[in-house]
Amino acid sequence: MPAFDVQQFRQQFTFFQQQPDWVYLDNAATMHKPQVVIEAVTRFYQQYNSNVHRGAHQLSQQATALFEQARNTVASYINAQHLHEVIFCSGATAALNQIAFGLMHTVLQPGDRILLTQLEHHANIVPWQLHCQRFGVIIDVVPLTTDHQLDMLAYQQLLQLKPKVVSFSHISNVLGHIQPVAEMVALAKAAGAITVVDGAQGIVYQQPDMQQLDCDFYVFSGHKLYGPTGIGVLYGKTTQLTRLTPIFAGGEMIDSVSFVNTTFNKLPFRLEAGTPNIAGAIGLSAAIEWLQKINNKQIVQHKLLLLKEFYNGLTAIKGIDILSSSVHNAGIVALNVDSEHPADVAELLNQQKIAVRSGQHCAMPLFSYLARPGAIRCSFAAYNTLDDVNRCLLALEQAVEILTA
Ligand code: ALA
Repeated sequence: MPAFDVQQFRQQFTFFQQQPDWVYLDNAATMHKPQVVIEAVTRFYQQYNSNVHRGAHQLSQQATALFEQARNTVASYINAQHLHEVIFCSGATAALNQIAFGLMHTVLQPGDRILLTQLEHHANIVPWQLHCQRFGVIIDVVPLTTDHQLDMLAYQQLLQLKPKVVSFSHISNVLGHIQPVAEMVALAKAAGAITVVDGAQGIVYQQPDMQQLDCDFYVFSGHKLYGPTGIGVLYGKTTQLTRLTPIFAGGEMIDSVSFVNTTFNKLPFRLEAGTPNIAGAIGLSAAIEWLQKINNKQIVQHKLLLLKEFYNGLTAIKGIDILSSSVHNAGIVALNVDSEHPADVAELLNQQKIAVRSGQHCAMPLFSYLARPGAIRCSFAAYNTLDDVNRCLLALEQAVEILTA
């Protein structure tokens, strides 16, 4: 396999031409956008701007065609069986809220159980919890092993409690660990559970195949797949989407309305109330079309190389507390400098134009479990270089010297 040409890839991002001094290692928070995505969004506003599904005019018809074409692009990218199984929403958070709200109102009964894991993002904890308290549903949590991977034995034991829903992240947003999703979905299904996969970090690592994975729901945000912010996807199997009570109601999602009764539109529109993020969907579609021209195996290899170099360098720096394991890692590393506050470390890196995230990364239960106040997080993308890795390592070495002097 030929090596990945990172410089050629990087040139497609105007950001790095305009901000050549920055080392951007906050990709798990959001990614930069290639020029083709920026142009697709701009072109929509400049040439076609109009609302979808409702105008009598040609502009609206063109906007509708572009929007529905975007759905088509997403559906084929994730190999959904039907177009209407792709629901556009604002992001993974909105999608998870819709699923939790929808299932709580129709499927879950008092005394039912939901199974989550210790390393979930708040967006895959709090939406469930909000409703659990009200509906009397119990949450169980899969613990981690000593190397901070999911404890699969405990997972299988907890499945014996017959949870109605099992919801877990494809890749931990803090540690970068890749879960054995296919195995987890298969085990959960065998136990009779509805399966929800939070693909917020997974979607950029690996093109998911819905028919092969066979999960009931898979969610992701466009901005973590080189697309715009404010657009995301809730994929669901038709039978499961049909069971969801809509979290938002209003225009588009109805069939007929009177003050006595309302009947609802068919999928996907029933779950897409109001004007959607049309430009966002078009931008996401442009990102996917662009990404499909690039060999993902080369990207995975490139990120593995960056990760290896980073780990080699980290282990040579005294006083670094690495929380992420280097195996089953998608390119996200959480760490601390001794017992120094992560915000101080991140600020020293920021002063050298190295962008990382610090804090608890919307995963407080994970940090309670790890018994750490937080961490800095370095998350790599395909456009990062070995030079980025080395600059970050040097800055960390200096941070250790400054903070522990
Ligand atoms: N969920 C995003 C992150 O982990 C914002 O940084």
